Amino acid sequence: MDRIRLVGGNELRGEIPISGAKNAALPLMIAALLTDEPLVLTNVPRLADVKQLERILENHGVDIAVHGRRRGEEEGVGQRMTFHAADIVDTTAPYDLVSKMRASFWVIGPLLARCHEARVSLPGGCAIGTRPVDLFLDGLQALGAEIDIDEGYVVARAPKGGLVGATVRFPKVSVGATHTILMAATLARGTTVIENAAQEPEITNVAECLVAMGAKISGIGTRTLTIEGVERLHGATVAVIPDRIETGTFAMAAAMTGGDVLLTGARPEHLQAALDVLAGTGVELTQEANGLRVRRNGNGILPVDVETDPFPGFPTDLQAQFMALMTMSSGISHIRETIFENRYMHVAELVRFGADISVNGQVATVRGKPQLKGAQVMATDLRASVSLVIAGLAAKGETVVNRIYHLDRGFEGLETKLSRCGAEIERVAG
Ligand code: EPZ
Repeated sequence: MDRIRLVGGNELRGEIPISGAKNAALPLMIAALLTDEPLVLTNVPRLADVKQLERILENHGVDIAVHGRRRGEEEGVGQRMTFHAADIVDTTAPYDLVSKMRASFWVIGPLLARCHEARVSLPGGCAIGTRPVDLFLDGLQALGAEIDIDEGYVVARAPKGGLVGATVRFPKVSVGATHTILMAATLARGTTVIENAAQEPEITNVAECLVAMGAKISGIGTRTLTIEGVERLHGATVAVIPDRIETGTFAMAAAMTGGDVLLTGARPEHLQAALDVLAGTGVELTQEANGLRVRRNGNGILPVDVETDPFPGFPTDLQAQFMALMTMSSGISHIRETIFENRYMHVAELVRFGADISVNGQVATVRGKPQLKGAQVMATDLRASVSLVIAGLAAKGETVVNRIYHLDRGFEGLETKLSRCGAEIERVAG
């Protein structure tokens, strides 16, 4: 299994191009199931999760093409891909494909809307929490679907004539359930209102894609989405937004090591809460014409307390990286994880660097230290893995991060991007 070896202590200096957002690319690809015309996506990141979803979509009969770089397009620019679901040949999403990635469960919305039936494996638990699907099922039932659970599969059937618009009020904010009901409602008969919808920028990216495909949606970017069902959707060309979690991750890496990094293509408004927190730690952030500049000039890192929340709050997907930063602050920071009940798997690994962290229920208390020491570490999820890379970049001596396939699921060209900015980092095969 590949590992990442790094030697800490170098400041990061240079430019890092921000890739397309994984968590926007995945639902955008799934939206292609809603139409028999081609959906063209640009700025698609080269990631293991994208590849995995390609397999799932191909199983449903989607033709997928990756186009070469266009003249004038720089290296590092994301892929331009076409997803063409002319015919859905299979409405089953099997266990061996769905169990590898939770987002693949979201195909249930478009399949049910377009084919009036779907049989999708339950995604199961995962390292960061139980992650149930009750909100998806309640929402689809509100649109008239009949749902059975059979041998680990959700078997869903729309009423004769298809799904019917309804009001769906989520008792809890869910990104995946919002994507799914939004997509399903585009082809339902009548009006659907989604209350307490997720407002993440990735939802807006998908909603705008659906509008470009002919859907009628109002309230985009707010807590209430209103969808007027239409008979059919058509093809469109849509760009994947830049990855706000990658942006925040590199900003925290630069804050940790010191230096001066320009994150090109970053959209600061997509992670304002995290940037406000970073500013509180003493980092200088400047919006420039082509991106966000992050600088720390030898000043220490100030401790800040943080609580994760749905957008526009501080994202749970940056909690582990921020904790890494706080291990070297000049005081005590409290971090409260409110989205997932088990998202502290990185704590035991950060402690291997010499960090002082204790966890009590939802709250982690991090007592900053002047210096971490390199260590052998491994992580069980994507964002936890990258928090270990960040810690290693600042730690004294050598760090080896094992099980890095998690990183390849969500960070495009991580070692290349960091080493171009002066980090001593390499992938070791085997
Ligand atoms: C999305 O997951 C992201 N994944 C996650 O990113 C992210 O951490 C999460 O949203 C929160 O921002 C993608 O976009 C592909 P949720 P999702 O449904 O949709 C509970 C990463 O590292 N819930 O918003 O699965 C759930 O258990 C990943 O890129 C129910 O109770 O998250 C959690 O506590 C990890 N019932 C909360 O809601 C349900 O039916 C929020 O989860 C659904 C969810």
